[in-house]
Amino acid sequence: MMSANFLKSRTRALTGGDSLNRPIAIDLFCGSGAVTTAMKEDGYRVVAAVDMNRICGVTYRKNHPEVLFRKKDIRSLQPSELLVAIPKGKKLKLMAVCAPCQPFSSQNRRRGASDTRAPLILESVRLARALKPQLIIYENVPGIVASAIFQRLKRSLASAGYILGNPQRVDAADFGVPQRRVRCIVAAIRAPGRIKDFVVPAQGAERVTVRDALADLRPLSSGERDPHDLLHTSRAHHEITLRRLAAIPQDGGSRDSLPPELQLECHRNRNKGDFCDVYGRMRWDSVAPTLTTGCTDVTRGRYAHPRDDRAITLREAARLQTFPDWYQFAGNRSEIAEQIGNAVPVEMFRRLVAILRKSYPEL
Ligand SMILES: C[S@@+](CC[C@H](N)C(=O)[O-])C[C@H]1O[C@@H](n2cnc3c(N)ncnc32)[C@H](O)[C@@H]1O
Repeated sequence: MMSANFLKSRTRALTGGDSLNRPIAIDLFCGSGAVTTAMKEDGYRVVAAVDMNRICGVTYRKNHPEVLFRKKDIRSLQPSELLVAIPKGKKLKLMAVCAPCQPFSSQNRRRGASDTRAPLILESVRLARALKPQLIIYENVPGIVASAIFQRLKRSLASAGYILGNPQRVDAADFGVPQRRVRCIVAAIRAPGRIKDFVVPAQGAERVTVRDALADLRPLSSGERDPHDLLHTSRAHHEITLRRLAAIPQDGGSRDSLPPELQLECHRNRNKGDFCDVYGRMRWDSVAPTLTTGCTDVTRGRYAHPRDDRAITLREAARLQTFPDWYQFAGNRSEIAEQIGNAVPVEMFRRLVAILRKSYPEL
């Protein structure tokens, strides 16, 4: 059964309410809008957002029509294009910056300076000089901390009048998300403020599990669709994939259970354990593995359903990223999987912002 708390968090509506008195926020690299959703859930009024991806923009506008969305390469964005959205007499309280993480990811062979996306995060400083947010929150992968770009970020923030806090390594699973997803969060505050290390509470004991998130959804076989929910449609698997899935034990089974005739040629000569997650099933009473853009493809990771012989559906992936069920996604199946896999888990960001707000009541 889905836990009451998980259900509440995923069906929460975003009310307009006293929106004029809410603290103002801006979302850089907003993608399909997970971070905007989180900030709105925590009571912020998000006034502007930027992303260069067309489909993300369509999704963003569907769900956040009141926000000024700029579909642009951030390098050519003038601060005035965001400034116009800040109401006269109001200060910008919060700027969220979730720049592309691939340049700093251990999975990326072009990692480091040769990846032209690496310096994109520095654009946040150019914009901060003009927009003067009181607090900036950066979300990225832990690998960013050892990069030269991180040192440059620190120096240019200092020259723009900001103090960068200590990077915090967090796992979304400790923040009410039914998924292991290790990230790096760093806050920067406008001087003369005092940066405080925000305390990440040890919440490991009460985890939201795959069962909490998915058990109420309709069981599906390969190629089947829930008539009431278009996102809950199973990929139609090839016969050989179905035979493999049928041979993998329910609730956490792995491809090393496959009989020799069903083993994959490319896996035969590798050590047991290598690529073990491919074709693996999720475990009901654990958190899901990190979702990627390939999260509805059993050949890309441990993305098979714990019980049904199929990959998880887009609905299930969206639930594991804690998108509310009312969230609408634009695009075809692979474009939606990409938006979901690239997203910041809504519930993680919502809780982080709430923790930071406690550290800085003035925000
Ligand atoms: C990690 S994702 C952002 C996730 C998003 N904040 C969320 O809430 O789910 C990074 C985003 O950066 C965008 N992006 C990459 N290069 C960009 C650029 N030069 N200008 C603007 N956006 C860019 C991508 O389209 C992608 O949506």
